Formats: sequence, C-alpha cells, structure tokens
Amino acid sequence: MAAVRGWIFTIYFILTANAVWGHIPYYYSAEPDAPIYVSGVPGVKLSSETAADRLRAVRAVMEAMRVDAYIVPTADAHNSQYISPADARREWLSGLRGSSGTALVTATEALVWTDARYWTQFEEEVDGTLWKLMKQGVDASLQQWLVSNMRPNSVVAVDPTTYTRRAWTSLDNDLSAAGVDLLAIYDNLVDEARRQLSDGPPQRSNDPLIPLPIEYTGERASSKISELVSQMQQKNADMLLLTALDDIAYTLNLRGTDIPYNPVFFSYLLIRRHPNIGSTVAEIVLFWGDGVLPENIRNHLTVEGVPVLCIPYEEIFDYLRSVSSGIGAQSTIWLSNEASHAIWLAIESGGSAHVYSTSISPVALKKCVKNDVELEGFRLAHIKDGVAVVRALHWLETQVNSGVNVTEMDLSNKLVEFRSLEDNFRGPSFSTIAGAGSNGAIIHYSPQITGPQRIIRPEDMLLVDSGGQYFEGTTDITRTRHMSASPTPAQRLTFTRVLKGQINLATTIVPKGTLGNVIEVLARKYLWDVGLNYGHGTGHGVGHYLNVHEGPIWILSGRMDDDPGIAPKMIYSNEPGYYEVGEYGIRHEDLVETIEITKESDHILASGVVGDFDGRGAVGFRTISLAPHQVACLDVDLLTDFEIKYLNDYHERVFKTLGPILQQRGLTDVYVWLEKECAPIKRDDKSSAILVKSTPILAAISAIVIWLGY
Ligand SMILES: *[C@@H]1O[C@H](CO)[C@@H](O)[C@H](O)[C@H]1NC(C)=O
Repeated sequence: MAAVRGWIFTIYFILTANAVWGHIPYYYSAEPDAPIYVSGVPGVKLSSETAADRLRAVRAVMEAMRVDAYIVPTADAHNSQYISPADARREWLSGLRGSSGTALVTATEALVWTDARYWTQFEEEVDGTLWKLMKQGVDASLQQWLVSNMRPNSVVAVDPTTYTRRAWTSLDNDLSAAGVDLLAIYDNLVDEARRQLSDGPPQRSNDPLIPLPIEYTGERASSKISELVSQMQQKNADMLLLTALDDIAYTLNLRGTDIPYNPVFFSYLLIRRHPNIGSTVAEIVLFWGDGVLPENIRNHLTVEGVPVLCIPYEEIFDYLRSVSSGIGAQSTIWLSNEASHAIWLAIESGGSAHVYSTSISPVALKKCVKNDVELEGFRLAHIKDGVAVVRALHWLETQVNSGVNVTEMDLSNKLVEFRSLEDNFRGPSFSTIAGAGSNGAIIHYSPQITGPQRIIRPEDMLLVDSGGQYFEGTTDITRTRHMSASPTPAQRLTFTRVLKGQINLATTIVPKGTLGNVIEVLARKYLWDVGLNYGHGTGHGVGHYLNVHEGPIWILSGRMDDDPGIAPKMIYSNEPGYYEVGEYGIRHEDLVETIEITKESDHILASGVVGDFDGRGAVGFRTISLAPHQVACLDVDLLTDFEIKYLNDYHERVFKTLGPILQQRGLTDVYVWLEKECAPIKRDDKSSAILVKSTPILAAISAIVIWLGY
C-alpha cells in the first residue's frame, strides 16, 4: 500500500476491498488530486544523463548514510493533498510528472508505484532503463515488495515529515515482522542530492498572509479557539497541536498562497490550555516563516482576539522536543494520527509527555459545518461564479460556431479571465479540466500550456470542470456540452442518465447523520440500470475559501471512518459522470448545501413531508451552483415528470438569478443565450409520443394473438 495520506489510504482500501468496481480504476474525486509542476516537458523524458545523475546522487547520499532503501512519497509535512514545488521530490527524482506516486531507491533498483492514470505517462516520461513501473493494484505493493526483497537487518529509510503516523505504523509493523529496520531521517536525502548536484530544491514559499475579516468568516478566531479549549478541557488535554494547513488557516481566519489552488500557508499551531483555570487559553503559538508577523497580521489577530506568539516555522521540532522533556513533561498533548511521524517522534522524544490521539483534528469536524455567514458567502460566490461560467460557455459556443479555432487551453484561460472580472476572486480552486472528445474521458485530465493543443471542434462533446476561490467561498462546477447540440444516441443516453442520477441525489431526503456512502448509489442508479458506471466518487466536502476537497465528509461508495454524517449547513459536490474511453466524457457537477427539511423548506419534496425521522431530523440538499444544463442533449422521454419539474425549477432559478446581472452589465448576447438555455423543457405531444412508442408493441401483441389463433 504505497498511498501515504490517511484518507487516500482508506480510499485505496475501498478500491481493493470493493469488488463492485472490477477492473475500473476508482478515484475518490474527479478533479486532479494535485497540481503538476513543470520539471520538464509533458510526455518527454529527462535526458538519460540527467536521469542517471539524479539517481546516482541519491544513491551516493544513501550509501553515506548507510541506507539500503529510501522511500520518496508524493507528500509534504502537513499531509496536504496538494503539495508545493519544494515538496515535489518524487517528480524531480523519477521524472514522472503525474500527481501521485511513490519512488523507492535501493543500491541496484529504482521503482515507482503509481495508479492506472499514469501508467502510459510513465512510459513516456520515465527512463525505463533506470526505473521500473510498479502498477498500483496490480503489482506487489511497496510494503510487500520491501518485505520480500529486503534482507533482515537491512535499513529502509524515509523522511518522517513525509509520512503520517498512521502510515508509518502500518509500514513499520510489516517491516519489523520481516526483521527489516525502518529508519526516520529528518534531513531529506533527495534534497541533499539536489544540493550536491547544484540543483537545490526550490525555496519553500512563505508568501504574505491574508487576513480574512469577520464579514467573511462569521466567527472570530477567539471564539473558535475558546471552543477548542473547552474540548481540550473535556479530554484533559493541556495542549492541542494543529498540523493540517487548512485547519490552521480556518482557526486563525488567515489565508495564504504557499500552495497552488489551496489558499493556505506553511505553519503549525499550538494551543496551550491554562493548567489551573480549566478552559482558559494560556498561550497560542504559531510556527510560521521567520517568526516575525507583519503589522497588518498582528492587527488582524488583535481584532480577532487572539494574542499569538510567533516562532520560526523551522523550530517546531526543537520546540516540541523541549516541551516533551521540559516544562511540558507529564502534560497531555492532543494530536491527530494524520500528523507526520516527525511530529510524533519529537513529542515522544522526552519520554514523558502523554499523547491524546484522535484520527482527525477537532477543527476538521468543526469546519465542515458552515456558519450562516459562510453559507451566505457560498451562495454569493456561486452567483458570481455562475456569471463567469455562463459567459465562458457562451463565448465558447459563439467562437466554435463561427469557425474560430479555440483550444481547451483557450477555454481554461477564458474561465480565469471571466472569473477575474468578479469581485474578490482569488484564483482558480484547481487546475481546470477542459476535455474535448476523447480527452473528456480521461479522469483528471487537464490541458497543459506546453505540448500540442487540442482544438474544440463542432462535433465534440466537451467536459468542463472548473472552480474559483473567492473571499466568500470556494466553487467547483462541471458542465458537459455538445458543441453543435447534436450528440450521438449513445451520448444522449448517457448524458441523460448521468443527469437523472444527479437529480436523484440532489432531491433525496435523509435522516440526519446518514453517512455519504449510504446514498451514493442513488447517483449511479440510472447508469446501473443499463449496465454502465463511473470510476470516481460522487461527492466531496468543500472548504470555505479553502481546499476544494475538504474531508471528513464524502459521498463515496465506501464508508469513511471519520465521516460525521450528513447534517444541515454542509457543502458537498454532487458529480456523477460517464466516460467512454477513447470517445467522450460526461460529468454533471453542482455544489449543494445541506438544509434541514420541514414542510416549509425550499425543497421540491417539502410539502409532502410528514415526519422528521422520530425527531432525529430530516436533511436535504439545495443546489447552489448556477449554470444551465444543455437541454438539447437530453432524451426527454427518459425523464419523469418529477425530473422535468426539477430541471425547469432549477433553470428558472438560474435565469432569474443571473439574468438581471447580465442585463445590468449590458451583456445582452449572453442574456439572450441564457434565456434560451433556461427555457422550460416541454414534452413533445405526450399522447402521440406514447402512441408512437407503443405501436410496435401493440403490433407485436396482435401478431402473437393472431398466430396463436385466438
Ligand atoms: C484551425 O485549425 C486547423 C487544424 O489545425 C487548420 O487547418 C485551420 O486552418 C484552422 N482554422 C483557422 C480559422 O485558423
């Protein structure tokens, strides 16, 4: 099991444990799972000299350190889903530009484990005379390989900042059973090799912090920390260490730009509770940059009511070691299993600190339930985002229809351009997927600036998945459109069935606390009905001007251990799809907020509701993404009256919300286009449709009746 991060580990477990998927690779989400850093040209190998130099340099460092095997995962010290260029070590070493993979180097062998998305890319980008591809889910796992190939008493090493405690424990158990030592070396050997080659790792970003005022967050940092401190008191914890970057950003109402797309900053946050006065904060220590907060941030934190002591980022480990052996000895520190093994080691070094460990942090559980200000912000962000998406889709169709060559990359840039015209836009929330024709079938495809450019043609089905970061919230939307509104029968069928699944999930009412995996099949039902499926999860949580994929809430086929279940005021994506490899891809994705359901709720089923699950509470979804679906691609005969009503209501809301803004801005062409796209769906003359459809059946029955001689 090469996956390092806790929840990705869980997903791979689901993948291997769940026979439903057969050979279909299964990804937890449809968006790319990490940005790719250009360390060469896509699809082109490093020169064989460079590739060999890099490997040789790492082996030399290993030899000097008496290491027999060195593991290089795709990970940073904070278990981040997206990493920064400073942490892209596996990519530098192997040449593989894919977003996931783990490299392993021994004196004689060099291997890369990666999933099915990158098997072809491996052949194109990695020197096969030096490196061997290990197919995840097919070949022996990293753990199995080490157990069967490393001699007893040999030393396997890893940078403990790049492994969570959870993943370390699992690997260590297997290796020690085989008599192999697992060694934590804080100084990263790849970084050392890079320095020796005068190709030192890029400077770790330490960009200016961005204060997020109360008008966007709805809750002061002091209030968030008070709540944490009372939880600490209940658990008898003297200290709480936050290691996940989005947890820290959320708690302090600060944002950053240290990692692309995810507005976070490299840091750790330690909250100390007053030892004698129960739920009082004694000290808040932020490990950030060189330890000097600029004045605007000090002012912000004063307004937020949190006196923060800032210490250089690099000093976290020494600080924890001294806490563990000095004044903090005998005290209890609250830590998540998703914190790095390096953090755990530092705390355990003194031998006397107690650790209270939970699988995830209390902040992760708090921040997935949004407050009213955050929810209002999400709705506003989606209005602005809807305007931008509608403008981009209209622009694209106008260009393609008039014979202009537009590439996937042009569309991607246009989306950023239109989003940039909206207030408080901070940048894309992930790398845009614009997949024309067969590119649409490549899950996690993203057009690249370098390399050949794909033109979007009139006969193309096009899948566009994009999102934005705004001070008010994060967006993520996918629309699929046929460029000349003339899909093939197979495309029409799958387009319609995917949308039926999305509507089925969107209109569902569940008892409060229901886990996402219980309802996931609702989105697959109409594909399963005809023997079709898709290889990714159906929904993920979304951060508030934070990470576009935010746990611990998910709508996946497997049960996620830390999922607290569906409750009001959460934000999920709802994104079923269908992918015909080599031909086209379809995905319909909206973000939805969860709402309490009563008879009075704004929900299509509200008026008929007669219970609240015996007081447990009923929860439903309300779609907040605003952009039309391409009605021209639908097979209306496959839709029920209920589905048509749902779509018509939705399109009416899209037009009533966005139309006036377009008008106000004088965007008449876009307004007219949107009005057409949002026109109500009408069945063809219903009785004649039934007659036409039933005629062959009637004829067949008559024939049988006659043949039987009745
Ligand atoms: C569009 O691209 C095609 C193929 O690359 C080319 O043959 C054609 O001339 C281009 N058309 C325009 C209008 O640029």
